Amino acid sequence: MSDDKHFFLREPWVYNKEAARTEREDAGRGFETRSLHAGFDPMADQDNFRSFVTPLVQSVTFPYETFDKIPCPVYGRTRTPTNSVLEERIASLEGGEACLTAGSGSQALFNLIFTIARPDDNVVTSLNVFGEGYKQAATIFPERCRVDFRFVEDPADPDSWDAQIDAKTRLVWVETPSNPCLFVTDIRAVADVAHAKGVPLMVDNTTATAALQRPLDLGADIVLLSLSKFMSGNATILGGALVGPEPLMEDIRWNTTEFVGSIVPPTEAWNTLQYMETLSMRMQRHSANALAMARYLDAHPKVERVNYSGLDDHPQHALACRQMSGHGGLLSFVAPGGMTGAATVMNSFKLVVHAVTFGTSRSICMHPPTITHEHMTPDERKAAGIDDGLIRFSVGLENPEDIIADLEQALSRV
Ligand SMILES: Cc1ncc(COP(=O)(O)O)c(C=O)c1O
Repeated sequence: MSDDKHFFLREPWVYNKEAARTEREDAGRGFETRSLHAGFDPMADQDNFRSFVTPLVQSVTFPYETFDKIPCPVYGRTRTPTNSVLEERIASLEGGEACLTAGSGSQALFNLIFTIARPDDNVVTSLNVFGEGYKQAATIFPERCRVDFRFVEDPADPDSWDAQIDAKTRLVWVETPSNPCLFVTDIRAVADVAHAKGVPLMVDNTTATAALQRPLDLGADIVLLSLSKFMSGNATILGGALVGPEPLMEDIRWNTTEFVGSIVPPTEAWNTLQYMETLSMRMQRHSANALAMARYLDAHPKVERVNYSGLDDHPQHALACRQMSGHGGLLSFVAPGGMTGAATVMNSFKLVVHAVTFGTSRSICMHPPTITHEHMTPDERKAAGIDDGLIRFSVGLENPEDIIADLEQALSRV
């Protein structure tokens, strides 16, 4: 199983906007088929375990055949057989050339930026990003690595993105729909702006997943995913992934992952594979439940605002309908009475659980201003639409009438 081509590849990846995307061999197969089959063919594995299910190889070290013949995989920090199936399956679902996993979505983001940006380079993004991503952008990278982050003023306007990109920009990073305000960014428009200046676009596809949105088909070069959310779907997995050109994935694998952090370990990789088999069905049900919830909240006299791109009056509803096949299971809304009102509603839930994370089979709520986005300045929170009364609501797979009943009784307390 030696694979010298990839071993200790140390050449830094350089974006080439002319490079055509390699069409995947399984591109002709449907999404559901690929989520069941990509990366593992039991008939091709007959010499090993004669296993119908992807084998769980619970080993993080792999013996040398001879003194100087390095095996592949060699050590579980960078590659294991079960993880390779997971990486291949995620790459297939996103339609990308290759995938590299990480210990978490936040770690995947760190690995990407750490690999492609050097001191005095910059990354262009907006304030519509998850809290830990914002923290990396606002303090960790600028203060520890001298990599500057520029937050565009109006993420709905491609010119606003264009204005921030210069010769030192190494990456444009878009999160859409964003956590927690479900802002939808035009992937194709931002890709065109970035590519015109020779810069790659990374899209964080965590809230939609490939089941609802395919950023690479819309012009993005790299996809970031937290596997801890909808991809696994029940808060039992912590993991992240990047999908993109193989030379970039291998640059990160051998220059960053190998020395800091790890890919997703075997058992977690194996469990993620099982959960991903139902990704498409789950996302459809999450989307249907969330739309019912959003409509209920939108019509509620006490609710000040609802953020959900499936609502007709969402400012980017038409764009979301163009670039997504469903609106997903995450929404947020503003309770009356600011932080006190949000606290009353959240303390009153009987079914919905107050916890960090989202994308779980059971409904979860969380208060972004005091938890995930507490590191933003008040002005930044205002610009990002994170009001004091904002509640992030991850709509689960329960019967919708039961979630609505819980919302009804909780809202009656304010
Ligand atoms: C949009 C988005 N991307 C990435 C991440 C990071 O994921 P993880 O929790 O696996 O580090 C999060 C976490 O909340 C997120 O909301």
